[in-house]
Amino acid sequence: MKMRQLLLLLIGVVLLAAPITAPATDDGGQQLYQTHCSRCHGIDGQGLRRLYPVLQGSSYFGQKLMQLPCIIQNGLTGNIRLQDGTYNRTMPGNRILDADQIARLMRYTSQLATGESAATTTITSEEVAHLLQQCQ
Ligand code: HEC
Repeated sequence: MKMRQLLLLLIGVVLLAAPITAPATDDGGQQLYQTHCSRCHGIDGQGLRRLYPVLQGSSYFGQKLMQLPCIIQNGLTGNIRLQDGTYNRTMPGNRILDADQIARLMRYTSQLATGESAATTTITSEEVAHLLQQCQ
């Protein structure tokens, strides 16, 4: 397949996969992202080579969103397979962030991940608190 066709196909897939968007929110999530995540995942979620995965297009903002609070709190280690290959490194847990801050972060990072101008999740701090109680 020619590069151009492949590109068009990819754009089509991304558009089809785009979830319904929630109203725009800027409730401090960007600031939290810059403080707690961007030094590894990049200011726009672009990642860093084979070291830190890109967040843009990450499946954690689609079907795996509900796992994100525990990943943020407890970190992530071992092999993970993403679109651009496998990563086998360690993301440290973050015990400073509370449920409300994690909810804000998730709303902001969902924008980064999908390229939408508004959050693609309406997750609340109550829902995050509930998910955090169930972390292994
Ligand atoms: C010290 C660097 C570092 C920081 C800070 C960090 N991460 Fe990570 N993150 C990583 C690494 C390394 C991995 C891959 C872990 C593995 O290979 O198992 C990862 C994996 C992930 C993943 C799963 C991979 C994917 O893209 O689907 C998500 C989502 C994620 N991080 C989000 C965040 C968020 C949100 C924050 C801020 C609260 C954050 N990370 C802070 C290094 C970091």
